[in-house]
Amino acid sequence: MKIKEKTKVLEITEKFDINIIFAQSLLLASDGDIDTEKISNIIKDRPKPFVKWVGGKRQLLKQFREMDLYPPHDFDPIHNTYFEPFAGGGAVFFDLLPKKAILSDLNFELVTTYNVIKNDVEALIRSLKKHVYEKEYYLNIRSKKVESLSDVQIASRFIYLNRTGFNGMYRVNSSGGFNVPFGRYNNPLICDAENLRKVSKALQHVTIQHRDYKYVLKKAKKGDFVYFDPPYYPVNRTSNFTGYTSEGFFEKEQEALRDTFVELHKRGCFVMLSNSDTPFINKLYSGIDKKIKLHKVSAGRNINSKASGRGKIKEVLVVNY
Ligand SMILES: C[S@@+](CC[C@H](N)C(=O)[O-])C[C@H]1O[C@@H](n2cnc3c(N)ncnc32)[C@H](O)[C@@H]1O
Repeated sequence: MKIKEKTKVLEITEKFDINIIFAQSLLLASDGDIDTEKISNIIKDRPKPFVKWVGGKRQLLKQFREMDLYPPHDFDPIHNTYFEPFAGGGAVFFDLLPKKAILSDLNFELVTTYNVIKNDVEALIRSLKKHVYEKEYYLNIRSKKVESLSDVQIASRFIYLNRTGFNGMYRVNSSGGFNVPFGRYNNPLICDAENLRKVSKALQHVTIQHRDYKYVLKKAKKGDFVYFDPPYYPVNRTSNFTGYTSEGFFEKEQEALRDTFVELHKRGCFVMLSNSDTPFINKLYSGIDKKIKLHKVSAGRNINSKASGRGKIKEVLVVNY
């Protein structure tokens, strides 16, 4: 980026309280000059995550930005690709809105939903409008076997259960059946058609895959930006929430992920990773290379379904830039 351009980008980030990557696309959209009205309208019109996801990163992004840990200043969103291989609700993707992105997750229903929003959003909206917020109806939808449904039906059921189930949780039993109880809400918004259309537009140039993170990252090149938000290492024995998929994510998996982090670092990618602030994770990311640094952030995350188990917990953010 030229110095003059960079100054304008920084002006946009401050004026609109947004990240530097999104600011670059806004400068491009306003033809190189800061058109306040145009930029405000684009910001007002940006999509937001379409599911509530445990561990969603939305509230933390501002803190990461203020600590100057996110996004990496030297990432070039025009020529390089953004990877979010534990996509979940995609909070970071929706914050950056990069032109080139590869999102992936091992949760089949979630990935199907992203792809239906991308390719068939109007059919999804029609289907979502038919749902009702009622316990018996919820239990009936919950009991449906995913294998017997079309992609639009899978996405519609997924969003419905996310909006009306307890705490927006995703939890499956050992045979993969969704088992979250009915949630108590005041008139939950099941079909946010306006946001779904915006999400669909934002996904048009994005690839969304149902794959393990390792497979997807084979394609990551020097200069690409990878954000890892894996299932967290448990803080204590009672908070070992690992319900996103029927597979767990334990010590062995955390070590393999650290190895992938190091490999991407050596390849020249910008890498950022979130996890819990536990002795195990601190040790895992210590003493690897002086560029790989571990920072502490405090997060008001709810990981326990019992109200008594909630509270502010600490997280770590590991970056190599
Ligand atoms: C902490 S959540 C991500 C939350 C997300 N960043 C957000 O803001 O909503 C972890 C995600 O990793 C996915 N996952 C678990 N194991 C995986 C694997 N081996 N490869 C890819 N994704 C995996 C889960 O399905 C889950 O969606």
